[in-house]
Amino acid sequence: MTSSNRPSIIAIDGPAASGKSTIGLRLANALGYLFFDTGLMYRAVTWLALDHDMNLRDEAAITALAERAQIDVVPASKADGRACDVFVAGKDITWETRLPDVEANVSVVSAYRGVRAALSRQQRRIGKRGQIVMVGRDIGTVVLPDADLKIYLDASAEERAKRRYDEIVARGGSANYHDILAKVIERDRIDSTRDVAPLKTASDAIVIHTDKLSVDESFEQVLALCK
Ligand code: CDP
Repeated sequence: MTSSNRPSIIAIDGPAASGKSTIGLRLANALGYLFFDTGLMYRAVTWLALDHDMNLRDEAAITALAERAQIDVVPASKADGRACDVFVAGKDITWETRLPDVEANVSVVSAYRGVRAALSRQQRRIGKRGQIVMVGRDIGTVVLPDADLKIYLDASAEERAKRRYDEIVARGGSANYHDILAKVIERDRIDSTRDVAPLKTASDAIVIHTDKLSVDESFEQVLALCK
């Protein structure tokens, strides 16, 4: 692929487990761009708060934590299934960000205005450098509204829960499909109804429904949009 007229800033948004990370990473690798998963920053703040035994309902304290936390999301240094490395004050917490406790609480933490302001600021600074695929919930709407290409990846909750289930089992973990489905639905509900930067499709985003698409097919569709 030649680089002429190729979108430089690519935003991918969508609900939980819609394939943003898998497709986003493949796309970034194909284009030679940086892949940046913003969800990992919200997960890192949530993990930190839990690790400090903080009250997650204390918005002021959690906001102060997000403002002073030193979170780094960088290209993966290990081939153990991770899409990025996540560091907090130099400590590798990549797999901790996937803990059930983090997953159960991240939507509460990410709804706080001050938390979003602190993290969005960093995301915008990184995104504006270009040659980037940034994935999340509000990238096309709030973080990088001037992105060259906006994609909204969607799938039914059942399909997304099945994918998350398969992912956990493939990593050797144990999981309950109905439990995952309930949690995915609840996280989407909180993410899409919050006051600040709710999950929604940007008016100029291209929506791709992936229920009936394989990962390869979804990737090909997304890649075609970059040509
Ligand atoms: O991988 P998965 O789609 O399950 O979640 P994620 O992208 O890692 O995001 C975890 C959570 O962080 C979401 O459920 C949102 O509550 C929050 N998030 C957000 O509010 N804004 C973003 N740009 C990215 C994630």
